[in-house]
Amino acid sequence: MLIQHNISLKPFNTFGIDVEGVDFISVDDIAMLAEIGELPREKYILGGGSNILLTHSPEGIVLHNILRGIDKIKEDDTHVWLKAASGELWHMLVMYAVSNGWGGMENLSLIPGTVGASPIQNIGAYGVEVKDIIDTVTFWHWEDKRSVTFSNEECRFGYRDSIFKHELKNKIFITSVTYKLSKHPEYNTSYGAIEQELHQMGVAPDVKNISQAVINIRRSKLPDPAVIGNAGSFFKNPTIPATQFEILRTGHPAIPSYPVSETTVKVPAGWLIEQCGWKGYRNGDIGVHAKQALVLVNYASAKGEDIWQLSGDIVDSVNRKFGIELEREVQIW
Ligand code: FAD
Ligand code: EPU
Repeated sequence: MLIQHNISLKPFNTFGIDVEGVDFISVDDIAMLAEIGELPREKYILGGGSNILLTHSPEGIVLHNILRGIDKIKEDDTHVWLKAASGELWHMLVMYAVSNGWGGMENLSLIPGTVGASPIQNIGAYGVEVKDIIDTVTFWHWEDKRSVTFSNEECRFGYRDSIFKHELKNKIFITSVTYKLSKHPEYNTSYGAIEQELHQMGVAPDVKNISQAVINIRRSKLPDPAVIGNAGSFFKNPTIPATQFEILRTGHPAIPSYPVSETTVKVPAGWLIEQCGWKGYRNGDIGVHAKQALVLVNYASAKGEDIWQLSGDIVDSVNRKFGIELEREVQIW
């Protein structure tokens, strides 16, 4: 097991935040995990670094997940089961499924990061969440010193949520995920923008075309981390009581919403943040993206602490104007 010292994490996080002096292990073999578990150090697992904000140099050890391998482990007349090692890039796996015509992942095209992070916040986009296709999640349990496989139900998935953000936080290393994909998919084009994009492309919905439509929409809206540092949506879309929503609507008739249950609605955080005047805000190297107010950005050499401070100012102003407390989606290190 090779421990590298004094590593900079700048190339390893999509915000492009520089923290230096890090102890770092590249994990390319599951067999390493038993030995790493014995190290008396706090462990920080790093996938693609696309959902973290680095506010300081981690004092423990950073485990860069580069476990690789994709296997079709089972197949019947209607479905295939794809098992992917957790260090595989999510979008590469989606492209593999799409090229085979297997349905279920196409709406989740172009989400950055690794397979292993996909169950953690139950990644979602364009009307689909990864929980819809996860069969099992396998992880190494540091304290129990053994590998465990959870069923979909055991993962307790919710909106941008799972057991891995609660009871199992900092206790496990996800090593592989098995997805159940359909050979005769039903397409999900319920998100209006997909229908529009397919129409503009002049094509009918199929796995490949929906994937391309999603890629086109995402490229038009979200900043490319290779050009402007960011971690996607910085906050979750808040769910509020329907009664509170009705009161808000009296003062703000244009407020958008999506029903969650009979008594709750979801409100787009991007809209709330934009209404508070933050969209396109810039102060030195930190800012709020001009096309999507939910995305905080690093224009060049921002410090993680400054982005953290900006996120706190946004939380405060949304709270003052709407009485809604935004929750951060990005994991803070
Ligand atoms: P990292 O950022 O490396 O890690 C995130 C957290 O998971 C950390 O706490 C880390 O310790 C933990 N972790 C990572 N791997 C493991 C593992 N193997 N075992 C245990 N813990 C682990 N997300 C969406 O849901 N939908 C979107 O549409 C979306 N769009 C995005 C667009 C852009 C431009 C960007 C930059 C991000 C976007 N995201 C989106 C967020 C991000 O891509 C996802 O959260 C992704 O799953 C993070 O993967 P990662 O490998 O980069 O995780
Ligand atoms: N809006 C504004 N101003 C903005 C941004 C959004 O008014 O600056 C309003 C608009 O009314 C728009 C609505 O918000 O119709 C929704 O916006 P959008 O379709 O861009 O989606 P979102 O709710 O901002 C969510 C996810 C994204 C995911 C997209 C597409 C969360 C926190 N974010 O964003 O996920 O890609 O939907 O499904 O749920 C991520 O998690 O990192 C992420 C990018």
